[in-house]
Amino acid sequence: MELHQAIAQRRTVKQFDPHHRLSAEEFETLINQAMLAPTSFNLQHWRFVRIEDSTLRADMCTAAWGQVQVEQASELLVITADIKAWEKSPARYWQNVDAETRSMVVDMLTEFYRGRESLQRDEAIRSAAFAAQNLMLSARAMGYDSCPMIGFDADAVGQLIKLPADHLIVMLLAIGKPAAQPQARGGQLALHEVLLSNRFPDPIHKTTKDKTTRCTRPQRTSI
Ligand SMILES: Cc1cc2nc3c(=O)[nH]c(=O)nc-3n(C[C@H](O)[C@H](O)[C@H](O)COP(=O)(O)O)c2cc1C
Repeated sequence: MELHQAIAQRRTVKQFDPHHRLSAEEFETLINQAMLAPTSFNLQHWRFVRIEDSTLRADMCTAAWGQVQVEQASELLVITADIKAWEKSPARYWQNVDAETRSMVVDMLTEFYRGRESLQRDEAIRSAAFAAQNLMLSARAMGYDSCPMIGFDADAVGQLIKLPADHLIVMLLAIGKPAAQPQARGGQLALHEVLLSNRFPDPIHKTTKDKTTRCTRPQRTSI
């Protein structure tokens, strides 16, 4: 299947065949594809927790407020991310390059992330989200469907999987053989709303005389 077809065909499915199992090779392919997603400084924040224990699956379903796909899908992954990946032996992310380059990159990334807590967290979420998208598209290309989820009690799921304090849960991802058609698409926004040319327009505000005028605040020209 061509990539553009996988993108067009990927839909969220909420009912799965509970008897279907992915082969070991299929699962390995999925994870290998996930691990090829891009990450800033190649930090690879993702940690995928595969829920294989059926009792744990049932507990996860409860934590996800009874969403049946959590229990029915062939695979359930808790996609987590290590917020502190940047400071955990970062040389290993650059093991294949020469020592001088490795040392330079490690210095750069350490300087970039040190003390910037929000950025560290944003980065972890960004990385794991890319990996999740790879998983969903790869699953579709293999004839499977998926359901990304944020509808769950994160504290409860964190306890169930013994989430380390410096990790966060990015989403649950159910993957399997669909047992029902996806719902009709909710509706995509118009192109003009999501695609901007060069910058956002100045905000429009009302004057005291109720005359509409352009804001005169200086524009931010770059980030
Ligand atoms: C971060 C995220 C969280 C979501 N959480 C849930 C969820 O908890 N339960 C659910 O049934 N669908 C969930 N969805 C699926 C969305 O409802 C779905 O992606 C959206 O309606 C667009 O439909 P599509 O994926 O078929 O294109 C989630 C999707 C994303 C990306």
